[in-house]
Parts: sequence; structure tokens; C-alpha cells
Amino acid sequence: MPKLNDNIDSVGRGFADFLAPPPEGVIRFTVGQPDFVTSEAIREKAVEEIRAGNTFYTRSAGAPSLCRKLSKWLDVQFNIEVDEEEIVITPGCKQAVFYGFLGLGNPGDEVLLLAPAWPSYSSMIKHLSMVPVHVPVNMDGFHPDFSALQSAITERSKFIVINSPNNPTGAVYTEEEVESLVAFAVEHDLWILDDMIYATMAWGDSKYTSPTIFSGGAERTLTIGGWSKAWAMTGWRLGYIAGPASAMKAIHLCQSSIASHAPTFLMPAAEFALGDDERRLEMQNSFANRRDVIQEELSTIPEIDFWEPEGAFYVMIDIKRTGMSSIEFAERALSEAQVQLIPCSLMPHGEGMCRISYATNIANIKEGCHRLRNWLSGL
Ligand SMILES: Cc1ncc(COP(=O)(O)O)c(C=O)c1O
Repeated sequence: MPKLNDNIDSVGRGFADFLAPPPEGVIRFTVGQPDFVTSEAIREKAVEEIRAGNTFYTRSAGAPSLCRKLSKWLDVQFNIEVDEEEIVITPGCKQAVFYGFLGLGNPGDEVLLLAPAWPSYSSMIKHLSMVPVHVPVNMDGFHPDFSALQSAITERSKFIVINSPNNPTGAVYTEEEVESLVAFAVEHDLWILDDMIYATMAWGDSKYTSPTIFSGGAERTLTIGGWSKAWAMTGWRLGYIAGPASAMKAIHLCQSSIASHAPTFLMPAAEFALGDDERRLEMQNSFANRRDVIQEELSTIPEIDFWEPEGAFYVMIDIKRTGMSSIEFAERALSEAQVQLIPCSLMPHGEGMCRISYATNIANIKEGCHRLRNWLSGL
């Protein structure tokens, strides 16, 4: 038998073992996707395009009018100045992240991840024979620990990934922290991969800050996002990557050799979505409301603690006082309380915690917390 790729066995399965569809009746606090169907108007737009026969190969970077509109949207929403020619529309944000590592990295390069980090980053890095370096964040709120970052630097350090609002922690880094991360990247000549897929979901006083607005940021930052979360379009597989011309030349080559382009008839719908603020804001408000409800509910469970979620739709619970490991807690919550959640020991520096996704309706949030409360009080 011919051999497989040597890295395949070390790539890991991320959250997959705990994301399997559970038996009926289980409350799912695991899935990182909005529970809303994509707005009817956006769906209609895609249907119209198919009916009109917009089914051919197209420009690799994506439809020019979509790139133009996205360039304006990024500027208006987040002060990100990027030329429409330096944008590539990709099949999902995930693939855009992969292009970032693929286009700019070499085997053996080290990538700094603020840990606990979304496990897909380390899988992608390992696929490419690069090295994930998990640098723990401050555990009092999951914000960057700059002395840990300094200690993690070696001559092979090449990238730092910023993901704020963060999956899994729900942290949103302050403007000062992002500015310091940029200064750190400049000092050590790192590329910044800014995965800002949750940028529109920052709660209370928190807000997403782009590294590109600080001195030295724009020339080393790849801004990476997509339509999945803000417009409830996970299944559409639409994302983007934007950055300085030198980097985008490499990213463009990745897209043309691997995917050619994002689906032709979906791009007008993505363009329409950028103008569909009403529905996006409605869903955003709904997540903000669910965040309030889950905090109220969790605060009535004495056996666990939690950190105030600042953004995205995740809340981390501290389960150490139960005496269980994360895996034991998640397995028993599923079998004894019929609640599915993610054990954070699946990620380096995540032991002692579980992640709850509150991208589900209020009734489920209340029922799931009620079950956890009853289960824990009966132990
Ligand atoms: C941090 C982060 N980046 C990227 C993605 C993937 O987004 P997409 O569905 O556009 O590939 C996710 C999805 O869970 C995520 O949590």
C-alpha cells in the first residue's frame, strides 16, 4: 500500500467527537452556528441568479462588484481600508484562514495562537508541516498575556493569529490590547492573521478593533471574515481575505490553484447581504438578549462559575469545583442531564472548562441550564 501524508494522524479532530448529533431531546449547547435560516431576501437573490443562468466560471478573486462593496463595508463598519483589488472571496472563512497559512508560511514556521484557541487553526497548521505554539491567555478573562507571548518567540516565529471576538472564550480584546499585539508583531516581524468572523457580535462596551488601524498593522495583517455568522449563512460557504498587495498576490495564487473561485451565483446574494442590515441587526440583538438570559441562568447554578461573555455566542464555564475533568463533565452532562457541551480540554490550556454556545433559542437556553442545575445539585 502507498503511504498517507505523514501529518494526517497528528492533525486532530477538533470538536468533532462532541459535535455529533445527539439523541432526540438533548439540548445542544455545542454548535457554533446561528439557529436562524438565512433571510428570505438573500435566499431569493441566489435563486434569481440560478434562474438567470449565472452558472459559469468567473474571476478567481470574486465578482468585482462584490469586492467593491465589501471594501466599502469593511471601511464603514470597522475603519479597515483595503483596496477592492486586494480582496479574495473564498469558499468560507475557514478556507481563507488556510490560504493565509498556505500562501505565506513554510514548513517549520511557528504560529502563535492565543490559547485556548479554535482547534481548526492547529489542524490547518499541522496539515502544512508548520508548528502551532499555544500561548496561554490570562485566565481571569481570556485576554492576551504579553509576557507569555514574549517568552514564546523563537527565530522560527512567523505568524500570530488574532480572533476577537473569540471562539471559544467569548473574549473581545480592547483597543489597547490590539495596539500592543500589533506592536509585538512589528517588533518580531510577524504576519497577523486577523480572524474577525465574529466582528459584528461584540456586546456591551466591547467592540472589535482591527489591527490595520495601528502603525505597522496594515502592511502585515490579513483581515479574514465571512458571511456564516453575521448573516446566518453557514452552509453557503462564503468568506473573504484582504490584505497588503504583496501577501494578496500569494493568496490569489492559492485560490486559483485550489478552488478557482467561490460559487458564481452565490456572490450576488453575498453582495445583497452586505446591504441587508435590518435582518443582520435583528439577529445580532437576539444574540445579545440570549447572552443576558444565559448569564442570568448560569448565575443560579452554584457548582459552576463562568466568565462574562464579551462577544461571539460562546460562554466559558469553570467546572473545577465539581471535581470532574472537562471530558467527564461533558460526557456526564450528556448522559445524565441530556445537555451537550464542548469540553475545553480538547484544546491546549482548556482543562477545567467547558464551552457553551448560546446560538439557540431562549427556551432551550433556559431548559439546558435548568437541567444542568438539577443534575449538579443532585450529585
Ligand atoms: C473562529 C472561527 N473562524 C472561522 C470559522 C469558520 O467560518 P466559516 O463557516 O465561514 O468557514 C469559525 C466557525 O466556527 C470560527 O469559529
